[in-house]
Amino acid sequence: MKVYNIAVLEGDGIGPEVMKEALKLLDVISKKNNVKFDCVKGLVGAAAIDKEGHPFPNSTKNICNNSDAILFGAIGDPKYDNDPKAKIRPEDGLLEMRKFLGLYANVRPVITYDSLLDSSPLKKEIVSGTNFVVYRELTGGIYFGEKSISDDRKSAYDTCSYSVDEIERISHLAFKEARKRKKELTLVDKANVLETSRLWREVVQKISNDYPDIDVSYLFVDNAAMKIITNPKDFDVILTENMFGDIITDEASVITGSLGMLPSASIGDKISLFEPIHGSYPQAVGKGIANPMAMILSLAMMLDLSFNLKKESEIILKSIEDALSENFVTIDIDSKNYHTTSEVGDWLSKRVSEYLG
Ligand code: IPM
Ligand code: MG
Repeated sequence: MKVYNIAVLEGDGIGPEVMKEALKLLDVISKKNNVKFDCVKGLVGAAAIDKEGHPFPNSTKNICNNSDAILFGAIGDPKYDNDPKAKIRPEDGLLEMRKFLGLYANVRPVITYDSLLDSSPLKKEIVSGTNFVVYRELTGGIYFGEKSISDDRKSAYDTCSYSVDEIERISHLAFKEARKRKKELTLVDKANVLETSRLWREVVQKISNDYPDIDVSYLFVDNAAMKIITNPKDFDVILTENMFGDIITDEASVITGSLGMLPSASIGDKISLFEPIHGSYPQAVGKGIANPMAMILSLAMMLDLSFNLKKESEIILKSIEDALSENFVTIDIDSKNYHTTSEVGDWLSKRVSEYLG
């Protein structure tokens, strides 16, 4: 029997609650099909600081190193947010994990569901039919460049730097993805101001010669921010550096009206990590109101991309679409007729089990 080792990092806030539902589905799949998922839990984020004094402790590093893929819940705790002098932050654990595991490409599909269009802050006709994916570089740029604050705390700096290698490896992934889609790739940068952005353009222009079938365009990030809300349908694959990607992926996710529905993958050379994009949502903890679908869709991405279990992944997607069309959803999607986090997880498990036969 094929055994897959999964590091399960629930993290903070609603992380454990949505993870529990995803694991129910894994259980169904392993019972129905001849596969075994060996799940080992590790601490990360504020939960890890509280118990082990570090947001990405060695125990968790070992669990990740011994896994074939990582399922990740959420990170962040409000007690750190308003303390700029905090020595240790939950988010540091996430950044260290990205660097340690070499998770260089963050892939965020931005898909609209017809039944959720009324929740979009944009007009239905603008957002309907939007379907693009952002490839955000994740281990370089200003997040990881040299940084410092002066002793008197009167000045500080962060440096943004990129090497050709760092740009090339994610660019190839993005070009290959464009090949499977509408064959359009947009590089988002600030090449009118930043030297690193000019390097990105140079490298992407060169690489585009290897992909003559892909239509490449270039957009400054400020202009891209506008186009994402005025013409989101125009995008297919967006490729961008770390910080611009952080900002435009939040913008992109919210226009779909379904923040609780969007998964992501962080691709590494050896191991990849899968996480919902919604964050720790501390206000919802313990109330049974968190939407488990983004976590479950992240699980579907893992089955597809890390384990090549395409059928199982598609069945999960189909079951989620069923839940939406039959309105078996959490309160964020329907504030009148809603179900709890675990009721939605149970419903999806049952549906997946039926499809698997
Ligand atoms: C994200 C988050 C992180 C980032 C934070 C929590 C460090 O916003 O995954 O987009 O900025 O990358
Ligand atoms: Mg972000």
